[in-house]
Amino acid sequence: MAKNEQLAKTMEFPPETPQPNVYPLSWHSQTEKMEEVWDAAQRENWDPKELPWDTLDVESYSWEEREAIAYWWTLLSVFDASAPPVFAEAFIKTYEVHEEDAVRRCFFSVTRDEQNHEQMCGLAITKFLEHPDPLTYEPKTELGKRLQKNAKWLYYNGGRYWNGYKQAVPKYSLAVLFSSFLMGEIAAATIFKQMHDNSRELVFKEAFKNIGRDEGRHMAICMALMERDYPGLADEDRAMVTKQIRAGYLFLSAVLFEPPMEFWDLPDDFIDSQREAEEVARGAGFGVPSYDAKKENWRNAMLNLKGVLDRYNIPFPAIPEVGISGEEVSDVDMQDIIPVF
Ligand SMILES: [Fe+2]
Ligand SMILES: [Fe+2]
Repeated sequence: MAKNEQLAKTMEFPPETPQPNVYPLSWHSQTEKMEEVWDAAQRENWDPKELPWDTLDVESYSWEEREAIAYWWTLLSVFDASAPPVFAEAFIKTYEVHEEDAVRRCFFSVTRDEQNHEQMCGLAITKFLEHPDPLTYEPKTELGKRLQKNAKWLYYNGGRYWNGYKQAVPKYSLAVLFSSFLMGEIAAATIFKQMHDNSRELVFKEAFKNIGRDEGRHMAICMALMERDYPGLADEDRAMVTKQIRAGYLFLSAVLFEPPMEFWDLPDDFIDSQREAEEVARGAGFGVPSYDAKKENWRNAMLNLKGVLDRYNIPFPAIPEVGISGEEVSDVDMQDIIPVF
């Protein structure tokens, strides 16, 4: 086409715009639930900077406690720091596929929420370490040194996921993508509730209450989309959902339970150091659930999800780690991961 070819001089109406085109010129509304979730997101928006930070006295904690608590936030940010770009990508997809108006807004709200969660991680880490970067911070205690080694390995593992995700987004329908989001959201909604109940520090209690409420909304978005799209889901998409659930289990276990070593590339002393840190954090009034409570939470989240997928005849993967039988899924690689929270 010549640079400034004037088609308008040769035809009455312009040619069809090739699809997918990133902008829909339409505001369809079909799924009422989405509008409700959006309204709730507007009402419940919060600002991490506005939390009662003035009630926090980091000096009342020992350095070991501070490093242990900062480690938990670091572990969380291995997931939450990728969430804004991950959902931003999905948000763009809702425009490309000309999703309903309220669906686009809901994905926008998730992106914004995740940005808040990430900011919260940063604020907590920076306050507790007096340093904005847990990987370059100079540890003050022997436990802190081991935790930084853990953090470096977590960061390395999480870094392998982005390229795979970017390739997955154009390949899969939103229906497949949000099945993977859903499991993260279900589990996250529960764990943040537990963290809220078991934490002593006011600023953390407030943060966990807000984050948990956000995750509950994210869960509702996924559920509403499933109700809309799953009855007509293609068979190959069903198989893909099963695989993604297993992948999501392996990926998210690192923060919601414990990292499965056959999937995560981590040193032998990783779990011991992490358990030690959690014990110290709990002792300082920071509500990380115990091994058994995490396992119970994770199992319930899986059973919940299984209940949802059963409704649409989508086979559930076997998750022997928490005692759930189902379809065997093998050969899951970090490259295959879509789930986030
Ligand atoms: Fe979320
Ligand atoms: Fe989140």
